[in-house]
Amino acid sequence: MSSRRQFLAIAAAATACLSSGAALAQGYPSRTITLVVPFAAGGPTDVVARALSVPMAKALGQTVVVENKTGAGGTLAAAAVARANPDGYTYLIHHNGMATAPSLYRKLPYNPLTDFEHVSQVVDVPMTLLARKDLPAKNFPELLGYLKAQGSKINLAHAGLGAVSHLCGMVFRQAIGVDMTTVPYQGTGPAMAALLGGQVDLLCDQTTQTVPQIKAGTVRFYGVTTAQRIKALPDAPTLAEQGLKGFEVMVWHGVYAPKGTPKDATEKFGAALRSALKDPNFAARMAELGAEIVPDAKLAPEGLRAG
Ligand code: MLT
Repeated sequence: MSSRRQFLAIAAAATACLSSGAALAQGYPSRTITLVVPFAAGGPTDVVARALSVPMAKALGQTVVVENKTGAGGTLAAAAVARANPDGYTYLIHHNGMATAPSLYRKLPYNPLTDFEHVSQVVDVPMTLLARKDLPAKNFPELLGYLKAQGSKINLAHAGLGAVSHLCGMVFRQAIGVDMTTVPYQGTGPAMAALLGGQVDLLCDQTTQTVPQIKAGTVRFYGVTTAQRIKALPDAPTLAEQGLKGFEVMVWHGVYAPKGTPKDATEKFGAALRSALKDPNFAARMAELGAEIVPDAKLAPEGLRAG
């Protein structure tokens, strides 16, 4: 081939590449997008994902389907999304568990930093310490006495190794020096059902699931895990102010796509996410449930990567 023909062939190939990228930007999304939740339906991550999916669908002009893929503290879902087709139609919403899994699982089949495109942070959510309604301890000092007396007879529910309910439970267990028995579920949705049914004693869980139960009086509630009191439960003391000095657990959430997802797809999805977070109905629902929409600087790939 002459050098001129070679040049024309390369130029034609480059134009084809450019126009296929442009076609994705213009036509995307042309079908339903799946947002994978790594825990059971009805739980706190699911609540945020389903509330987001409505304004996001409006912004994208396509349905956003929430799919619950449970197991192994959220790592099965993350592994599935890491392996999914990077075509812009599969995303994952996850939390602190994404960052802690590498130190908790010996054989994690994905790398949270290199196997995903980071899209954006979403909301920060406080946690609350709860017990079954008929637990004899009526307040935090009574709870400490009761737990010390009962020790490993106490069943602490959680959503699997590395779930935030597990991390919060472990930090609490260590702070009070009581070795409770842990009971894993596929999410804190089913863990909450077990608490309401009296099958387990204790649960540390996010306000996005617990505020309605606390307000309805269906659980015993001992305090929030944040450094300061929160607007959604203004009368509730923090665990730190009740004697657990320095106790602080807060949950961040982020959205990821499989590595290799075209940038114009993640950017369009990220823009729809940012507009959904500003939707007045979504913002009001999150405020009612104690969730804080993250500052604008975190609503970007680098905002999620930086944590
Ligand atoms: C859930 O959505 O079930 C929770 O976020 C699980 C957890 O405690 O991490």
